[in-house]
Amino acid sequence: MPSTDFGFEKVSPQEKTKRVRGVFESVASRYDVMNDLMSLCIHRLWKHDMVNQLPLHPNANVLDVAGGTGDISFLIHKKYRHLNLNITICDLTPAMLEVGRNRWINQGQSQGVEWVCGNAEQLPLPDNSIDLYTIAFGLRNVTHIEQALQEAHRVLKPGGTFVCLEFSDVKSPLLGKLYDFYSFSLLPWLGEKVANDRESYQYLVESIRRFPNQEKLVTLLKTAGMQTVSWQNFLNGISCLHIAKK
Ligand SMILES: C[S@@+](CC[C@H](N)C(=O)[O-])C[C@H]1O[C@@H](n2cnc3c(N)ncnc32)[C@H](O)[C@@H]1O
Repeated sequence: MPSTDFGFEKVSPQEKTKRVRGVFESVASRYDVMNDLMSLCIHRLWKHDMVNQLPLHPNANVLDVAGGTGDISFLIHKKYRHLNLNITICDLTPAMLEVGRNRWINQGQSQGVEWVCGNAEQLPLPDNSIDLYTIAFGLRNVTHIEQALQEAHRVLKPGGTFVCLEFSDVKSPLLGKLYDFYSFSLLPWLGEKVANDRESYQYLVESIRRFPNQEKLVTLLKTAGMQTVSWQNFLNGISCLHIAKK
């Protein structure tokens, strides 16, 4: 039977999808607080940077895959409100969507974003229907990354844009050592103390190490049919933004 990585463990593809959903079900209620705590709010800067670079036009169809509790979609909605966008958030885990929907309502919003439970590998959307596809800190959790990239290519209109923000490969050896210490020693400890969930945060750290680096992701994107792929590192490669065109 084929196997895939769930962190450093080898599991069947079905088991991986099930476990990933389990991780995000388990962390959903504390997801936003833990993100701020673990990254000292730096994830917010990266997300702003990503959203500031989006090529958007009036009435564009935006799909935020693995959108979770809505960070990227909310930023897009706020920054490009004047463009009257159609924004859809698609995520595998109902609990993450529910936290997001409640956040949206608590911000006094009732429309402007559609919430869809679905898998990045099999998007419930027609071919050539999306102007902008975003995925932030989601791709490394997907069981078949190549399949998800082909789906992104399928749903994008010709000329549409694919944007991925994801953890990547730290380029400086010294920073890499510090980052390893922080990741493998402090993060699971924080997960245990604050969220009472060491395993989920251990998975988070391990999944980052298993994800294709900057250059490999370019190759995967090109194999999926994307063109003019570019990338830029944030904090020396701790995270990386890939932008591609169909
Ligand atoms: C680390 S969170 C990122 C959430 C949000 N994009 C953000 O930046 O805060 C990863 C999200 O990916 C979702 N996810 C994992 N595998 C998925 C898949 N195959 N298809 C769609 N969503 C998936 C999880 O449910 C979770 O909400």
